Amino acid sequence: MAARDATAREGVTAWPQHSMVFGADYNPEQWDESVWAEDLVLMRDAGVTMVSVAIFSWAILEPRPDHFEFGWLDRVMDGLAEAGVGANLANATASPPPWMGSRWPETLPVRADGTTLWPGGRQHYCPSSPIFRRRAGILTEQIAARYADHPALRMWHVGNEFGCHVPQCFCDVSAAAFRVWLEERYGTLDALNDAWGTSFWSQRYHAWEEIHQPRTATTWQNPTQQLDHHRFSSDELLDVYRNERDILATHTPTIPITTNFVTTTRRPIVDYWRWAEHVDVVASDHYLLVHLLRPEVELAFCADMSRGLAGGEPWLLMEHSTSAVNWQPRNRPKAPGEMMRNSFQHVARGSDGAMFFQWRQSKAGAEKYHSAMVPHAGTDSRVWREVVELGDALGRLDEVVGSRVEASVAIVFDFEAWWNAEMDSHPTDAIRYRDLAQRIHRALWDAGITVDLVRPGAALDAYELVVVPTLSIVSDAAAEVIERFVADGGHALVSYFSGIADEHDHIRLGGYPGAFRELLGIRTEEFHPLLEQETVTLDSGATADLWTEHTELEGAEAIASYADGPLAGGPAITRHAAGSGVAWYLGTRLADDDLAVFVDRIVAEAGVHPVLPELPAGVEATRRRSGPTTFVTVINHTDDDVSLPVAGTELLSLRMGDHHTVRAGDVAVIRERIPTPVESFGV
Ligand code: GLA
Repeated sequence: MAARDATAREGVTAWPQHSMVFGADYNPEQWDESVWAEDLVLMRDAGVTMVSVAIFSWAILEPRPDHFEFGWLDRVMDGLAEAGVGANLANATASPPPWMGSRWPETLPVRADGTTLWPGGRQHYCPSSPIFRRRAGILTEQIAARYADHPALRMWHVGNEFGCHVPQCFCDVSAAAFRVWLEERYGTLDALNDAWGTSFWSQRYHAWEEIHQPRTATTWQNPTQQLDHHRFSSDELLDVYRNERDILATHTPTIPITTNFVTTTRRPIVDYWRWAEHVDVVASDHYLLVHLLRPEVELAFCADMSRGLAGGEPWLLMEHSTSAVNWQPRNRPKAPGEMMRNSFQHVARGSDGAMFFQWRQSKAGAEKYHSAMVPHAGTDSRVWREVVELGDALGRLDEVVGSRVEASVAIVFDFEAWWNAEMDSHPTDAIRYRDLAQRIHRALWDAGITVDLVRPGAALDAYELVVVPTLSIVSDAAAEVIERFVADGGHALVSYFSGIADEHDHIRLGGYPGAFRELLGIRTEEFHPLLEQETVTLDSGATADLWTEHTELEGAEAIASYADGPLAGGPAITRHAAGSGVAWYLGTRLADDDLAVFVDRIVAEAGVHPVLPELPAGVEATRRRSGPTTFVTVINHTDDDVSLPVAGTELLSLRMGDHHTVRAGDVAVIRERIPTPVESFGV
């Protein structure tokens, strides 16, 4: 996978570190100081290496504007240093104190319908507000200056999950900033009018002041305006991050700076491809979605996303949960061993550590029912015992730190297409961008194949197979990379509702799927989305739903055609030999079992091999490489012990052998034995 095209800062302390990071958000300000000493003892008992401090401390650090109280944080930081625990110190700007909203109500964010979002929760700020930015800058400056040389400082944590509660602000200050952003993007009103297609419905603008955000309107709003407002809002939040980051960087040029990305989300918050260029370490938060049948597979997808954002380099799982959360409709606790498996899944997929929200379970506030490393029940608890076990296990993986995950399949994943694919006034309102990407990822997971998530336009030469699911908008340049990949011998699987429009969301005329029509050797005249509950059957016996389309072959062959429904006889899945490669088209949504059969076929033709041969169902394996040394992580999600033919040393037990047994529900990390020259030449 190509390295991040980072504007990464020169000279930042080497990331990754020398050992796996283990720790949590640490919120000592919620507790009496008498508890802090016990915290430090317990952190040592558990093998905690780093904690994130002061993320939500603004109101305590700065009780009145320009009046700072750092005494308590000094004592916390000193205690951590003495205990040998590193601090991922926040600049504490994630949640403004109540005085901000009272004194400067114009800093509060506003929804599209004009509703002001008041203090009482968190993240209640307008990212464009000059007052908010100034106040956040003052606080950041104070913290940076005070702790720049503190021995506990390992990393800076800017804000928290930017945009997770307020991805877009619709206030007047934001409106003015949007106009400036648009002027920079388009230069002239004519260019904007063209891009937004404003000849439609009398929307032509004659002055910049006439332009607003897509506030609540009579009916469907201009789609390009909506898309641009998402882009603008992402950039505006990024600006907030960068301003604060730059202050920290001035004081500590070598300390890594990051913020935590959110991968478990149903809506794209910001464009993380753009953000990833501006963090020194990609850090992400993942929470298990317990209503899913196989939440561990969704976890794997998100971990692969984090690794993709890191350009294949190691990243850091900044938050997950030891057990239940508080924000899902029904909050199931984790089963015994599940936290260990989840943590190792992330490590297996490139994280150099496992951190949690949070260290000590709160006794008050909205998150008091959210699990933590030290639960309400105290240390005589299953959660605590498993925390200690996990700390011990991670402590045995020093040599894995810094290694990179191997993958020969990529999914092209895009936050802009995600915004676009789920917009209103489309052929169906039932497309969920992540749905197909995750289904195909799941089929590959079941086949034991590791998948990278890559940005449109990223170099693809490291892969045998590239999957392009519902990439509704795509630039010419990004489409060309996929075309070239196939011409050079790769296999590409493109799905329905891909390549339809350009980056302005203007349809590519002449037949769908526009940008990929020639590559796929097909031409679609009309979409036939299916009604709710409606299914069709293919002549292969497969069942499909959601989407069909009237496709003509223009060089491709039909692999499966519709056996019934409005398009009976027409192609549903096609294959096109193009250049020295093959371009496959999936024109409908196959039922999971049928999708698995189809994916298996492509995988076989593309010559993609699983990480381990004949991996039993429900057993996950990935490989990380560091020079000639490789580490296979096996996670057994089943109720049966498995024995796998991996020769080497298992790092948790130090057992050596040509086979390793991984007990039901357990994990293993095997440093593979490097074959001697004699063995490798088969002598
Ligand atoms: C997010 C936040 C944390 C906490 C957790 C709870 O990840 O960053 O502050 O609210 O969710 O799951």
